[in-house]
Amino acid sequence: MLPYVGLILVTLSIGIYWYITRTFNYWKDRNVISPETTPLFGNLKETALRRKNIGLVFEEIYTQFPSEKVVGVYRMTTPCLLIRDLDIIKHVMIKDFDLFSDRGVEFSKDGLGANLFHADGELWRALRNKFTPIFTTSKLKNMLYLMTDRGDKFVHYIQSLKNSEQEIHGLVQKYTMATITACAFGLDLNNMEDKLAILKKIDQMVLTPNIAFEIDMMFPGILKKFNSSLFPRFVTDFFFNMVKQIVTERNNAPSNRKDFMDLLLELRSKGQVQSFKKNDEAKNQLVEITDGIIAAQAFVFYIAGYETSATTMSFLLYELALNPDIQEKLLTEIDDVIAKHNGQITYECLTDMVYLDKVFKETLRMYSIVDPLQRNALADYKVPGTDVVVKKGQTVLISPRGIHKDPNLYPEPEKFDPERFSVENCANRHPCAYMPFGVGPRNCIGMRFAQTQSRVCIVKLLSKFRIEPSKNTQRKMEFEPKRVIIAPAGGIYLNIVKRK
Ligand code: HEM
Repeated sequence: MLPYVGLILVTLSIGIYWYITRTFNYWKDRNVISPETTPLFGNLKETALRRKNIGLVFEEIYTQFPSEKVVGVYRMTTPCLLIRDLDIIKHVMIKDFDLFSDRGVEFSKDGLGANLFHADGELWRALRNKFTPIFTTSKLKNMLYLMTDRGDKFVHYIQSLKNSEQEIHGLVQKYTMATITACAFGLDLNNMEDKLAILKKIDQMVLTPNIAFEIDMMFPGILKKFNSSLFPRFVTDFFFNMVKQIVTERNNAPSNRKDFMDLLLELRSKGQVQSFKKNDEAKNQLVEITDGIIAAQAFVFYIAGYETSATTMSFLLYELALNPDIQEKLLTEIDDVIAKHNGQITYECLTDMVYLDKVFKETLRMYSIVDPLQRNALADYKVPGTDVVVKKGQTVLISPRGIHKDPNLYPEPEKFDPERFSVENCANRHPCAYMPFGVGPRNCIGMRFAQTQSRVCIVKLLSKFRIEPSKNTQRKMEFEPKRVIIAPAGGIYLNIVKRK
């Protein structure tokens, strides 16, 4: 009996080993270089074991192969292609976009899955087509009052704090949570402790890496096949119920708040949304703007909108504390420009702050927080300038962090230098050498919103305070492995000191 059991166990072990390594010659067979793999995990062992953020893993792979245009990678057991070459990136993300319009993270066409970030195919086209106009400058200007009001409250709150040393990431989250909920759903969190607690809980649920990501990487499309929800029912119910309540309160019509909810209701009053696709009229799809579609967008505006800006501002303030000369120059600009605009923080006042813009851009160069970017091929695609063919359905990846830290593109990449974003330096750079907000028709729709809400906060804060290192400020930034976007591990401690 015993020999049989032994034989079965050995056969089983061989079978399992074969299964979890079966694809690992894929790139070698196609003469594409790739990093060493680990059975089952491919190149994502550190990420899957929650020891390293996935963005840092891709940055390392990018850096490991400085002379390659493309690198074969294995997300768990699935072969994907990391593109390093900027011209190829331009092809995939812009010129040949029609073949790469899917992100490949769709998990359901209904419920919260019908949001702009996760949706693919015609649903995405229809949503993007109609939601682009709600992010224009004029709509942003209308919302600015909500941001400046939250900015004032934020500064009052800081004035009330007893200690100058603060954990800056958690602190700035208070501001972005207040602005995004005001702008996205018309809520005033000051009077809603219960909602604030729920939103924080949702943050934990949604922005913590989920085993479902690894399963979907191993069996691409499995979540969609089962029409499964990535998030607990509780999250869906929260957004659906909130939208229902707000829509009822506003009598199903835009109020005068001019927030996203008003804009979505205005859109609804115009009827269905049609997708657009060049040369393919037959495939056009009509999407009705139901409460469900509104809830899905409210969900993604919240998730994509509050933590990204909070993290970016925390890194920005950290770099200002470490670089007092840069901070001094910025404070002078803020004071001068505000004086020029008679003390009013208008949209024009914010755009007049050109040095602030450079500081913001340099922050996102050094600390790109969304990595890697990804697209799925809608058809077999011969990668320009190579013999490699990306198969239909295969995922291509891009590492903004790798690109932003490449010394050939940014000499002394660990130096914080806002002048990299002078008009002249920007003009001399490849259009795909800087992409913290992605690039092409599927880039970040909230980019301008993010810039504006961050500028308001920084300007309000620095008109009253300066930022200095404290005894607990880390000299080397460590990043949180258990977060979907790249955030500081253990927070960032800084002194907030009243300006004279
Ligand atoms: C500093 C802040 C932010 C950063 C760094 C950021 C970054 C990104 C990146 C890298 C992408 C993927 C782009 C691509 O694949 O090419 C993205 C997509 C997206 N972002 Fe942002 N984002 C920020 C703020 C916001 C805000 C404030 C909102 C909404 C209010 C927002 C909404 C979205 C949406 C809806 C998408 C999906 C767009 C689509 O697929 O059509 N983001 N963002």
